Amino acid sequence: MSPTRQEWFVSPPHLEGLDRFEPGKPIAEVQRELGLERVIKLASNENPLGPSPMAIDAARAAMEEAHRYPDAEATELRAALSAHLGVPSAQLIVGSGSVDVIELLAKAFLGPGDNAVISEHAFARFRQIVDARNRGARLVPMREWTHDLEAMGRAVDDRTRLVFVANPNNPTGTWNRRAEVEALVAGLPAGVLLVLDEAYFEYVDEPEYPNGVDLVRRGAPVIVTRTFSKAHGLGGLRVGYGVAAPEVIGALLVVREAFCTSRVAQAAAAAALADTAHVRRTVELTRAEKARVAGALVARGYTVLPSLANFVTFDTGEEGRDVFRRLLSRGVIVRPLDPYGMRRWLRVSIGTAEENATFLEALEAVSERSEP
Ligand SMILES: Cc1ncc(COP(=O)(O)O)c(C=O)c1O
Repeated sequence: MSPTRQEWFVSPPHLEGLDRFEPGKPIAEVQRELGLERVIKLASNENPLGPSPMAIDAARAAMEEAHRYPDAEATELRAALSAHLGVPSAQLIVGSGSVDVIELLAKAFLGPGDNAVISEHAFARFRQIVDARNRGARLVPMREWTHDLEAMGRAVDDRTRLVFVANPNNPTGTWNRRAEVEALVAGLPAGVLLVLDEAYFEYVDEPEYPNGVDLVRRGAPVIVTRTFSKAHGLGGLRVGYGVAAPEVIGALLVVREAFCTSRVAQAAAAAALADTAHVRRTVELTRAEKARVAGALVARGYTVLPSLANFVTFDTGEEGRDVFRRLLSRGVIVRPLDPYGMRRWLRVSIGTAEENATFLEALEAVSERSEP
C-alpha cells in the first residue's frame, strides 16, 4: 500500500509564512456561487473592449500550427517590438506575461543573501517573487501613496541587486516623475539594476512621466517590463516583455524556460501591436471614463488616489472587504486591498461606460454613506 500524503509530504521550510497572490475573482465563479446571471468584472485591470480583431485572427491562424513548438526566440514578435520601440532585438526578451520577466530577474540576479528594494504598497508580485526566491525583499514606506524613490535609493546596500519601481504603480495608480527616476538611477552603485515596471505605460498622459525605454537606450542600468495584458487586451494569453542591455537579456535567457510563450500568444501579440487604432480607442475610452468614475467618487466624498493607470483606488471609509462583498452580491467584482495592507481601500478597473455606471449605482446602494 502506498503511504498517505500525511506520511510523505514535508512542507518546504523555506516557504513557511509566505503568502500567495490573490487574483481577481473570475466571472464564472461568482455566477455559480451567487446564482447571478449578470456579473461584471472590474477587478484585474483588463481591457473592457477585448482583444483587437486582428489579434483574434492571428491567434486562430496560429492554431493551425499548434502541433509545432513555438519559436523559442519569438523572432517575429521581437522584430515587431524592435521596430515599434526603436531598440535592437538583442535588447528584448519575451515572457509569459511581464510577471514572468520579473520572475526571471529574481532567478538570475538574486543569490543567497542578496536583496531587492521594493516599496511598501508596490505591486504585490515583486515582494512575493523575491521572498519565494530568497526572502530578500526590503520594503520601504511610501510617501503620500507614492514610491519614495529617495528613501528607496538610501535603502540600497552592498547586497542589493534589484530595485523595483512600478510606474505607474498598481494598486495605487500613483507615479514617479522623470527627474526623480533619473536621480535614483544616477545614485545606483555598480551591480544594481532598476526594474521599471511599465505595465500601464500606454494609458499615461503626463509630460513629466519618464519613458523607461529612453533610459535603456541611454545605457542606464535599467530593465523596463511591459505587457500585452492591459491596453492590448491579451491578459488571457500571457505575453509580456523586457527591454534592457544585451548583457541583462543574456542573463535572463540562461534561467528562462525556452518555450514560455505559446505560438498563439506570440502571433496574437504581434498583431495586437500593429492594431494601433484599437489601442487608441482603448486608451481614449479609459481616460474619459476614469475621469468620470473618479469625479463621481470624489463628489460622493471618497478620497481617490490620482491614477495614471486604467483603474482608480479609493478609501471606502470602512472595511474595504465588507464593501467588496456587498458589491459582489450585486454582481460587481472589484478588488479589496487588504492583502496590500490597505484595509479600507478598494481598487476598481475602468470598464465600459455601462459597466462603470453599474458599479457606481451598486456602490451607492451598498455604501454606508447612502444610509440616512
Ligand atoms: C504593475 C503590474 N505589473 C505587472 C502586471 C502583470 O502583468 P502580466 O499580465 O503581463 O504578467 C500587472 C497586472 O496587474 C501589474 O499591475
